[in-house]
Amino acid sequence: MQAAPMQAAPMQAAPIGVFDSGVGGLTVLRALRAQLPHDDFVYLGDTARLPYGTKSAYTVVRYSLQCAAALVARGIRCLVVACNTASASSLQALREHYPALPVIGVIEPGAQAAIEASASQRIAVIATEGTIQGGAYEAAIHRLNPDAQVSSLACSLFVAMAEEGWTQGEISEAVARRYLQPLFGDEAMRQGACYGVPDTLVLGCTHFPALLEPIRAAVPPHVHIVDSAGTTAAAVRRQLAGVGAASPINRSLAARGRITLLATDGAERFARVGSRFLGEPLAAEAVQIVDL
Ligand code: DGL
Repeated sequence: MQAAPMQAAPMQAAPIGVFDSGVGGLTVLRALRAQLPHDDFVYLGDTARLPYGTKSAYTVVRYSLQCAAALVARGIRCLVVACNTASASSLQALREHYPALPVIGVIEPGAQAAIEASASQRIAVIATEGTIQGGAYEAAIHRLNPDAQVSSLACSLFVAMAEEGWTQGEISEAVARRYLQPLFGDEAMRQGACYGVPDTLVLGCTHFPALLEPIRAAVPPHVHIVDSAGTTAAAVRRQLAGVGAASPINRSLAARGRITLLATDGAERFARVGSRFLGEPLAAEAVQIVDL
């Protein structure tokens, strides 16, 4: 009897590395999994040092390089910076440090989504203090359309509210109104639409999609609200295909990719709060605590 030909071992592509200051980047991981369901992911949340949004660019670059090193040590084939604050300050340093590794941030895809959504090219951006101060969104939008009018506002409290689960109801609506009124104006709020106010609002922080309801209620109805999760996932898919590192094609279509979850502190909190951002239950035992 003839021996059966040896089956080639299924190609196990290296995982995609994703990091954020905490759990907010799980909104990006969720979008990545929707677009790349057969890929493996290693997600690192630097929960011990959250928030990044109030820290200096120097510190955020240092933290980002440490997060990247931990993921590179796990053999990733691509790095997604699923944090707006880290993307705003650290992309260049990360790319210089790892010239052979595709490094994708969330700001360029978010800017692209805003330009595509806006008819008037009057765009408002809300984000953390660090992201707004660095002007990264403004610069990214102006690279795509130098004539676009961009207004930016830091909404730091939104991060704590999203983590606390205060994402609906009176308090969250009052805070959203208080922040967003200066961008959209009282008149616009009353009329529902007003000439001259932005027609597009970018959620420039990974936590903000959790507050979509109160944010929606605080802006005129004609305003498009965009976030960068879906567009970042599409950018990752395109980039990997472009460098010949697309998802493993000989893996069974039924096999869903695995997620490895790493955090720098608080596995229980990561799982509890993170499940809201990922949109599926997480067990604390599934979260490995690592030291950077
Ligand atoms: N993940 C951060 C961002 O997208 C928000 C939380 C923080 O300040 O660390 O900017």
